[in-house]
Amino acid sequence: MSNVCLIREVNRFVDQSVKIGCWLHNKRSSGKIQFLQLRDGSGYIQAVVAKNEVSPETWEAASKLTHESSLYVTGTIRSDSRSQSGFEMTVQSVDIIQITEDYPITPKEHGVDFLMDHRHLWIRSPRQRAVLAVRAQVIRAVQQFFDDRGFYLVDPPILTPSSCEGTTNLFHTKYFDEDAYLTQSGQLYMEAAAMAMGRVYSFGPTFRAEKSKTRRHLIEFWMIEPEMAFVDQQENMNIQEQFVSFVVQSVLQNCRAELQTLERDVSKLESIVPPFPRISYDEAIVFLKENGFDIPWGEDFGAPHETAIAASYDKPVFITNYPTEIKSFYMKPDPNRPEVVLCADMIAPEGYGEIIGGSQRIDDPQLLAERFDEHNLPQEAYQWYLDLRKYGTVPHSGFGLGLERTVAWICGLEHVRETIPFPRLLYRLYP
Ligand code: 4AD
Ligand code: MG
Repeated sequence: MSNVCLIREVNRFVDQSVKIGCWLHNKRSSGKIQFLQLRDGSGYIQAVVAKNEVSPETWEAASKLTHESSLYVTGTIRSDSRSQSGFEMTVQSVDIIQITEDYPITPKEHGVDFLMDHRHLWIRSPRQRAVLAVRAQVIRAVQQFFDDRGFYLVDPPILTPSSCEGTTNLFHTKYFDEDAYLTQSGQLYMEAAAMAMGRVYSFGPTFRAEKSKTRRHLIEFWMIEPEMAFVDQQENMNIQEQFVSFVVQSVLQNCRAELQTLERDVSKLESIVPPFPRISYDEAIVFLKENGFDIPWGEDFGAPHETAIAASYDKPVFITNYPTEIKSFYMKPDPNRPEVVLCADMIAPEGYGEIIGGSQRIDDPQLLAERFDEHNLPQEAYQWYLDLRKYGTVPHSGFGLGLERTVAWICGLEHVRETIPFPRLLYRLYP
């Protein structure tokens, strides 16, 4: 078998004959000409089969092709300004690998459960492929941003003996005879890494046994978690707005075709540049009250609150300095006002909700030890974490960006379930 050419790369072979390995996406026929819409994952191309220019075998093979049949096609690449990709193929021969029969996903409307049951096939559709291609570009941009700025990539463990984000949604498992939990966040380990390597980031799966069935929640999701020594909360936010802007601009540059497939209004993404607006929790409460919400100071925001606040801005907005009571044990209190912490959530525009949670961390060993008691966390399990404050403690900050919510926002999707190849949802572990 000679090497196949990727559809994405046919521009290098104009007026030359190439072979591609592909699936039939669609077909039209007008008597003596068949138009094959082919896909190979890297792109789409139309291949034209003319009855009087190919062998009877090739004409016959093309006639038999059904949706999702697999094949090799050899033909000449032509520039074609009318086609979306800019190229078309004039077919010389068609070699069938398999004729697909009864492909379950048809052009008719399917319900969400049906599509989710067939997720392994659904990802072949143009929209789903586009979302996953954007996801891959977001990951590439994340790594580029941090690698170019001297951050080290560090991998925290996935099996852990203790919790980072509260004990209510821990995924329990056995670790031989011990109890263990799937990680909710790599943060605590990243703090140790920051004390060793200065500026670090992680990228990996995290797990939350949340009984939430919303369009923003997954049970298994991927997080990017930078942690930085000698960085305070103000600089932490500066880095976050540069980071998110870089990722969005990189998708705009590299995924034009995908955003078009998704019918995304790109003007909304083009305006994502620093600086981002910042409002305090206190100001947010006042705003919400003025807008008809009955929410007392001290209560956490839910999706409707976040959406209402974000609607005032065309960029992500930071909500800063939440009440200490409702935030995680490790957040540093504001020295002038210990009832609030030096933290910020970044809320995406267009109703996509919180995409980043971040804060400056407690650096005082005494205060941290008190927090463990207040939060009913066993100090023995966190001895190593306390050590970080005992041996050369420094001011430090970090944050976690949820990959799937970010991709949902950039792609303009209704639900995060389409942003991950095989979503783990409440009541869904298949396929
Ligand atoms: O705000 P969270 O819980 O923050 C942390 O876990 C920190 N330890 C991160 C850090 O500072 N290193 O989660 C961070 C982000 C959220 O803003 C959200 O984007 C995403 O993770 N996230 C979820 N995404 C999908 N499904 C869920 N169930 C999510 N829970 C959080
Ligand atoms: Mg949060």
